[in-house]
Amino acid sequence: MTATNAPPHDAHPKRRLRLPTPTELRFVEERRVGHLATASESGAPAVVPVCYALVEHGGEPAIVSALDEKPKNMPDAELGRVRHILARPEVALVVDDYTEDWRRLAWVRLRGRAGLVSSGEEGHAEAVSALRAKYPQYAGMAIEARPLIRITHLAAASWRGDGATSFEAEGEPVRPGDLASLVSGRRSVRAFTDRPVPRNFVEQAIAAAGWAPSPHGRQPWRFAVVEAANRRAALAEAMAATWREQLTLDGQGEEIVRIRLEKSRQRLHQAPILIVPCLYLADLDVYPDSDRQAAETTMAIQSLGAAIQNLLLTLYAAGLDAGWMCAPLFCPDVVREALGLAPALTPHALLPVGYAAKDPVRRGRRPLEDLIVSWE
Ligand SMILES: Cc1cc2nc3c(=O)[nH]c(=O)nc-3n(C[C@H](O)[C@H](O)[C@H](O)COP(=O)(O)O)c2cc1C
Repeated sequence: MTATNAPPHDAHPKRRLRLPTPTELRFVEERRVGHLATASESGAPAVVPVCYALVEHGGEPAIVSALDEKPKNMPDAELGRVRHILARPEVALVVDDYTEDWRRLAWVRLRGRAGLVSSGEEGHAEAVSALRAKYPQYAGMAIEARPLIRITHLAAASWRGDGATSFEAEGEPVRPGDLASLVSGRRSVRAFTDRPVPRNFVEQAIAAAGWAPSPHGRQPWRFAVVEAANRRAALAEAMAATWREQLTLDGQGEEIVRIRLEKSRQRLHQAPILIVPCLYLADLDVYPDSDRQAAETTMAIQSLGAAIQNLLLTLYAAGLDAGWMCAPLFCPDVVREALGLAPALTPHALLPVGYAAKDPVRRGRRPLEDLIVSWE
């Protein structure tokens, strides 16, 4: 590294240890591998790459890592890191991003106290769930029967290459560089700050949508971007009338209807940008029979989903977040009219886009074995 480029190591001698910030925790949570440093009783250091998950323990964040079955011929107590932890509980976990573009370098280091948690002990089952939610590979391993490592009393230090000296100076969220981490890190976000969204990020995301597979390569979708506050408000008001009717039809009480409408309205007001993906069937093949025509439409809708996923991942990689609201599906005419869209466009969803106001709920996923129903 040259003198003009700040190095990706602890360049600040006075860096003090402190509680991890939400952004640091999120950075750690979104990455898939960290390096765990331990030391033997005599002070000999050791570092191993580990899979880990972030959990809550006693109201504080904690890191858990499984002692999985990789070293089959070695009892747990003899594993170097276990021996070290039992002798000296002070450990450090470093999670980092490396890319050739050094402006995107970043790392977070968590120091803490490590201990072993045995099967059946408090927090063990939650840790196993968190690890399995993050790594489907654990579904096929008996980690519930084995002790795991839990690191508590976390203190953080961090560095990022984009000019911000640390994550305390909350700049652009730093997102992982590899595809697997981007795919598993993206979440539906429902609350945004009022920080404006750069136009080029939205353009890049819509361009990425354009690369989705589509029937006959016809790209049967278009996107309306709603940015002006008065247009967002008009859309919210127009849809609210339909929502009210539908919720009342469902037998929801007046108060519930009012609360749900207010929540939805807030989401549209709060997000700096709304993207409305629309189905556009005009370029597709026309068939004399209704079965093939319906299949053609289904293909277009499948393709719209693929396009939206490209868009969401591209936004996420750029440090932005988005949600997915299905409301326009239930009132396409109302949305078309509110936005002045052409009759050939059918609004299918509404994606609020912005910078997340808080870390979203992170739902786990079904294990891989549930998803693959046959393979022979
Ligand atoms: C077709 C579709 C419609 C959705 N509609 C809504 C919606 O109306 N409101 C909402 O809050 N989330 C909606 N979602 C988001 C899902 O609730 C969310 O993707 C799911 O719970 C998984 O969470 P994650 O995206 O954070 O991983 C929708 C997702 C899809 C794919």
